[in-house]
Amino acid sequence: MVRALNVSKHFHGVEVLKGIDLDVAPGEVVCLLGPSGSGKTTFLRCINQLETIDGGRIWVDDDLLGLEEKNGRLHRLHDKRIAKQRREIGMVFQRFNLFPHKTAIANVMEAPVQVRGVDKATARAEAMALLERVGLGERSHHYPSQLSGGQQQRVAIARALAMKPKLMLFDEPTSALDPELVGEVLDVMRELADDGMTMIVVTHEIAFARDVADRVVFMDGGVEVESGPAREVIANPQHERTKSFLRRILAEQNESAVPQGEVAPGGVASGTAQGGAAQGTAAE
Ligand SMILES: Nc1ncnc2c1ncn2[C@@H]1O[C@H](COP(=O)(O)OP(=O)(O)O)[C@@H](O)[C@H]1O
Ligand SMILES: [Mg+2]
Repeated sequence: MVRALNVSKHFHGVEVLKGIDLDVAPGEVVCLLGPSGSGKTTFLRCINQLETIDGGRIWVDDDLLGLEEKNGRLHRLHDKRIAKQRREIGMVFQRFNLFPHKTAIANVMEAPVQVRGVDKATARAEAMALLERVGLGERSHHYPSQLSGGQQQRVAIARALAMKPKLMLFDEPTSALDPELVGEVLDVMRELADDGMTMIVVTHEIAFARDVADRVVFMDGGVEVESGPAREVIANPQHERTKSFLRRILAEQNESAVPQGEVAPGGVASGTAQGGAAQGTAAE
């Protein structure tokens, strides 16, 4: 579904992606882990063509993004073709960015009606079904200000799904939420994964990555440091940078999520990754 080859990107001469490769099969869930500043958001934004890449290639569903080959030369696609490619990818951000003056259902209907030209009755019925799917059927006529952060984020997920994307990108979708609201959003994402959606998820929720992702990719400094089956990489990271990152994240999450005394020392290395961590959030 996604193939990224040697993707590079710089901002003002600073290289923030230094040749990233990634393959994601249809229905696969890949979590991107890594410290702040490692290039995770930039990489997602490149896949969604919110940024243009400086080198490499990205295909989504065999469609080369942003470029076409004519007479053996690559040309930038017209904006209309780029917009069409972007419509097939749903993105959920850390901040939900709902329209504040529109109800939940109006937020979800907006793009299908305005962009895909779906008639309003159909769009409304589809939006309602999506809100029910994310557990918000009862709240369809609430405004964002009347919804909790977790509910707003679930509306944002429904809104992205309304465009019937082939691929969903999540950029730290729970990191702006109060801890008690994280679980409800992760549950929706987990169901989406179970339904076969192809997903790339940037997250610090290690328990979610371990339980839901097929693979994790650990990035640091604009490169992939290591990747592999989620459980293997999380339980038994090979590189020092991955180890220290996981130790740090799990320690932070243990501090906030698990009552004192339940935390086994040693974290990941001793195989306690399935304990502690986000037990209060993702694990159930
Ligand atoms: N629009 C931008 N202009 C300049 N620098 C940027 C821009 N976006 C990101 N960066 C820089 O690129 C690096 C990677 O950022 P980002 O992709 O946001 O990392 P992450 O999501 O892993 O925290 C950081 O050093 C950041 O400051
Ligand atoms: Mg980021």
